[in-house]
Amino acid sequence: MNDLYDRHRAVLPDWLALYYEDPIEITHGEGRHVWDSAGRRYLDFFGGILTTMTAHALPEVTKAVSEQAGRIIHSSTLYLNRPMVELAERIAQLSGIPDARVFFTTSGTEANDTALLLATAYRRSNTVLAMRNSYHGRSFSTVGITGNRSWSPSSLSPLQTLYVHGGVRTRGPFAHLDDAAFITACVEDLKDLLGHTRPPAALIAEPVQGVGGFTSPPDGLYAAFRDVLREHGILWIADEVQTGWGRTGEHFWGWQAHGRSGPPDLLTFAKGIGNGMSIGGVVAGAEIMNCLDANSISTFGGTQITMAAGLANLNYLLEHDLQGNARRVGGLLIERLRAVAAGLPGVREVRGRGLMIGVELARPGTDEADPKAAAAVLEAAREGGLLIGKGGGHNTSALRIAPPLSLTVAEAEEGAAVLENALRAAY
Ligand SMILES: Cc1ncc(COP(=O)(O)O)c(C=O)c1O
Repeated sequence: MNDLYDRHRAVLPDWLALYYEDPIEITHGEGRHVWDSAGRRYLDFFGGILTTMTAHALPEVTKAVSEQAGRIIHSSTLYLNRPMVELAERIAQLSGIPDARVFFTTSGTEANDTALLLATAYRRSNTVLAMRNSYHGRSFSTVGITGNRSWSPSSLSPLQTLYVHGGVRTRGPFAHLDDAAFITACVEDLKDLLGHTRPPAALIAEPVQGVGGFTSPPDGLYAAFRDVLREHGILWIADEVQTGWGRTGEHFWGWQAHGRSGPPDLLTFAKGIGNGMSIGGVVAGAEIMNCLDANSISTFGGTQITMAAGLANLNYLLEHDLQGNARRVGGLLIERLRAVAAGLPGVREVRGRGLMIGVELARPGTDEADPKAAAAVLEAAREGGLLIGKGGGHNTSALRIAPPLSLTVAEAEEGAAVLENALRAAY
């Protein structure tokens, strides 16, 4: 008996994906834990899709939001906005992009939409390169560059999209190659593609694919791509909506795993920076950002209350070195999960970095995706008091683990034990 679920189905779209056979309502949270409306407590290893970045009900963020709400919540981009300027200054500096400008939106979708508008206007081309198995948002423009059939409801698009190889290391035609040969094959494919097409505006890529199941290329692929793109004047857009702010542990931005490339031309962000308040945005050098020749506003983008939350959240992240915590605790967690997986025939791969860990399931003895097992593990983990996510390309068969970056070692151990039991129950 789930009255809220019935009401949800009666009034909301069928395509709004919900987790669990008996979906749960989360009513409150604290630290790395949340509670549902039946009073059950869960360790949260998904953070509302990597969005509760520091912690639930973090006092510093709550205080900043309530103090700002008492002064002014919103004034629009028509007026000067101190918290917006302050957060833009911080992000411009952190981005590493020379002479950076920041435009705030309310979501990752809108951030990528803006990046596409800028890149296509700057380059006077509507051709875009995107990665297979990618996800960039839910709007008309962003579904047109999403290389994941499960999240592409329309083939109509204002853009001409060409999908490039390389986002998935262990599947596809080059999976059998070693890292260096894999990169060479992907670069050769890109060069060949560019020989057959009108000049593209940009390549957009997630350094680690989020919805795609936390898959990534070998480090260095995007640096090698960049060399080719530069020869043609093609821009590089790094979609850091999931990978930004130190989540990957070793790096503050996901693109830094491809270091030699230098910063991207455009960088998009969202999710974690607001810790749940709606902040997205795009960073680009002044020449690209200022290439539009008509006015623009964003009614809700950069509104004072979200910016106050973002500033408090970013301060907490940096002052408590949560990137370092993601590296240390994420490193322990992935090792622990690899040890568990070694004894389980249905686990095809444990991958990821920092606190962005994917566990891909396959039918034992085969390489076939096993979405049923992934759904069963998700349910069993919830029964054991652990919330995780799932994702993956052709079939949703990868478990996604992405807790708030303040995760403690004890919580990592506890979550890993629940996950181990859930996996053992499935196999
Ligand atoms: C890499 C990436 N880009 C863009 C988006 C879209 O962000 P939003 O859901 O805030 O519109 C997502 C959402 O999951 C994402 O993972």
